[in-house]
Amino acid sequence: MSDQKSRFEHLVEAPADPIMGLQEQFRQDPREEKVNLGIGLYKDEEGKSFLFPSVRDALQRLYERGYAKDYLPIDGDKGFIEETLLLSFSKELVESKPLIGFQTPGGTGALRIAAEFLSSEVKGKVYISDPTWPNHRPIFERAGFKVESYPYYKGQLLFDEMKRALAAVTSDDIVIFHACCHNPSGEDLSLEQWQEISDIIKACGALPLFDMAYQGFAEDPYKDPQAVQLFLREGHELFLCSSYSKSFGLYGERVGLLAASLSKPKEAASQIRAQIRALYSNPPLHGAQIIKEILQNAALKKQWEADLATIRKRIETMRKSFVEMIGKSDLAYITDGKGMFSFLPLTPDQVLSLQKEAGIYMPKSGRISFCSLNQANLSYVTKSIGRHL
Ligand SMILES: Cc1ncc(COP(=O)(O)O)c(C=O)c1O
Repeated sequence: MSDQKSRFEHLVEAPADPIMGLQEQFRQDPREEKVNLGIGLYKDEEGKSFLFPSVRDALQRLYERGYAKDYLPIDGDKGFIEETLLLSFSKELVESKPLIGFQTPGGTGALRIAAEFLSSEVKGKVYISDPTWPNHRPIFERAGFKVESYPYYKGQLLFDEMKRALAAVTSDDIVIFHACCHNPSGEDLSLEQWQEISDIIKACGALPLFDMAYQGFAEDPYKDPQAVQLFLREGHELFLCSSYSKSFGLYGERVGLLAASLSKPKEAASQIRAQIRALYSNPPLHGAQIIKEILQNAALKKQWEADLATIRKRIETMRKSFVEMIGKSDLAYITDGKGMFSFLPLTPDQVLSLQKEAGIYMPKSGRISFCSLNQANLSYVTKSIGRHL
């Protein structure tokens, strides 16, 4: 090193990501009885990562057949895009709407590409639900947007407050919605409520962007995109950012879809393509091949539907057992919650003492994932948490 002062002298440490940071603390905790309820990762009844039988069979077929490890096109795999557009929107809408699609590195990749493209096309702000997935704000802020929030959930769904806030949004703005299994609350809107939101968004002219990270975890993979499909039928221009991390258990393979319905689809696609080329050039190959193999093969697709049903059933059982074992009637909302998460009515201090005293980890908000519970840890977890409720 020369005597010259480093240009990086001013650097300070960025705060650790709240969820990933928690996982690191959990890893270092030596206690055997520890449980991490903070991470959004599906675990089976034995507490192990779950390889979908449909994914295992698709992998077998891919290895037997072999496939070239060439680069994918910038847009991604054509067959994957066709299949996932159908999965998101239905045949009727794919055939009648000017949809464009891109295979992306996970749902985060889809959101970031959407944010990059929109930051040069849209003048206004981005509105996110309060609360929301903690990465929404930084993704859009780092793409240059001012991010504000609309009320969504505080102990209960705040539908009237949400409607009032959205009515004041302008046609220059973007509103982000969770398509299903709202993360972190587990509380979704009914189809009738989505219709009201669609009317409000139409009246104010904002651009809706749906984030769908849990397709197949609420009702089934075909019903779960009902809000997105409703908006499309109602004639909105819209964006959809889908993650297949949870829906296929392919977390580390990084597979997602960025889709949009907008006027000038050809021009928009070319601009998005230019963004992707300059960011990561083209998406990862392997996970998308697995998903394409499943969706193009009737037997594998059936198996995948059954795999998702197994997951939903296990989450449902864990939600029910949790509420029964805690034995408090005011937690009944947990039984009806959709997807992996719900909030527990715990203060940040209570969350901290659960971590210290019992090795039970969750973010300060009290959001827990029911996928980390199983018959072996349920009694320990409910007894420990029950002491604070
Ligand atoms: C609401 C929401 N959106 C997006 C994502 C990101 O998905 P991925 O891991 O595929 O990037 C997640 C992941 O937890 C999520 O919960």
